[in-house]
Amino acid sequence: MNRNFALEFVRVTEAAALSCSRYMGRGDEKVADQAAVDAMRDALNSVEFDGTVVIGEGERDEAPMLYIGEKVGTGHGPKLDLALDPLEGTTICAKGLNNSIAVIAIAEGGNFLHAPDVYMEKIAVGPDAKGAIDLNRTPTENLKEIARAKKCSVSDLTAIVLDRPRHEELVKEIRMAGARIWMIGDGDVSAAIATAQSGSGVDVLFGTGGAPEGVIAAAALRCRGGDFLGRLIFRNDDEKGRAKRMGITDYSKIYQINELAKGNVLFCATGVTQGTFLNGIRLFPGGAHSHSVVMRSETGTVRYIQTEHNFRR
Ligand code: FBP
Repeated sequence: MNRNFALEFVRVTEAAALSCSRYMGRGDEKVADQAAVDAMRDALNSVEFDGTVVIGEGERDEAPMLYIGEKVGTGHGPKLDLALDPLEGTTICAKGLNNSIAVIAIAEGGNFLHAPDVYMEKIAVGPDAKGAIDLNRTPTENLKEIARAKKCSVSDLTAIVLDRPRHEELVKEIRMAGARIWMIGDGDVSAAIATAQSGSGVDVLFGTGGAPEGVIAAAALRCRGGDFLGRLIFRNDDEKGRAKRMGITDYSKIYQINELAKGNVLFCATGVTQGTFLNGIRLFPGGAHSHSVVMRSETGTVRYIQTEHNFRR
C-alpha cells in the first residue's frame, strides 16, 4: 500500500472528528454519529482508491451509509478494504467525556476479518507482553503471565475494563488477583491502544465489547507491535446466522491478531474529545486544532499530526 495514503486518510478522520465534535456534550448520540458518518463518507469519496467497507456502520438494511460492502473512494486506484468507525464512543461524545475518536484502518483486500455486529471477548496488551496472553486461561493466569513478561508483580498492573454488569465476575477476579482496575464507560478501541502506549498507565484490556471494534483495535495493535485475541460471543441464533452469512462457521474460535487484521495495515485516528493518547478537537474563533495519529504495521512508524484548520478560507 502506498505510504502517501497516510495523509489522505488522516484528512478523512479529521473531517469526521471536526464534524461530530460540534455535538460534544449536547446529549444526542445519533446526531453526533450522523455528523461523523456524513463527513467521513464525503471525505472518503474524494480519495483516489477503490475502497470497500468491511467493518462499518452495520449491515446494509440497518445502515444507509458506510454499511458493510459499500464501495467508497473514486473507484480508481488500488483496491483497499476499510475497517472504520466515524465516531467510536458516541455516548462519550454526547456527554463530553474522554476518549471518543474517529478511526479508520486500511488494508489490501481480504485482510480484515468480516466480523458481524455481535460481541467479542477480548484481551489486549502492548509489545512488552506480546505472546503472554491466552483467552483459554483465566484472567488471574493471564495477569500472572503479563506480570512475568513485564518483569513486575501483578499488583503493579492496571487492567482496563468496560463498566458493564456482564463484567461483574471478571472485575471480582481481577481484584482478587491483586491488579488495579481502570473502569471505562465506553470506548474499548482507545482502551486497547492505551495498553501499547508507554505512559498511559494501562497494561491490559479485558472484557467483552463490540466485535467490529475488536477488528479495529487489532489493526491498531498490529501497528504498535502489541497483541490482541478475540472470541465472538453469540447471544442467539440470529447472531449466529449473521456470522454464518459472513463466512464464519467455527463459533467458538479464538482469533489471533493476524487473523483479525493481516498484511500491511494503515491505521488513522483523530481525537474527538480529550483522550489518553489524542487531544480532542479544540475550537478557536474561525478554526480548530485537531490531533491525529497515523501508524503503519510494515514499519511500525507512529506519527502524530497536529493540524490547524482555518474555517474562514
Ligand atoms: P459506540 O461508539 O457504537 O457507541 O460504541 C462504544 C462502545 O463502548 C465500544 O467501544 C464497545 O466495543 C461497545 O460500545 C460495547 O458495547 P455495549 O455498550 O453494548 O456494552
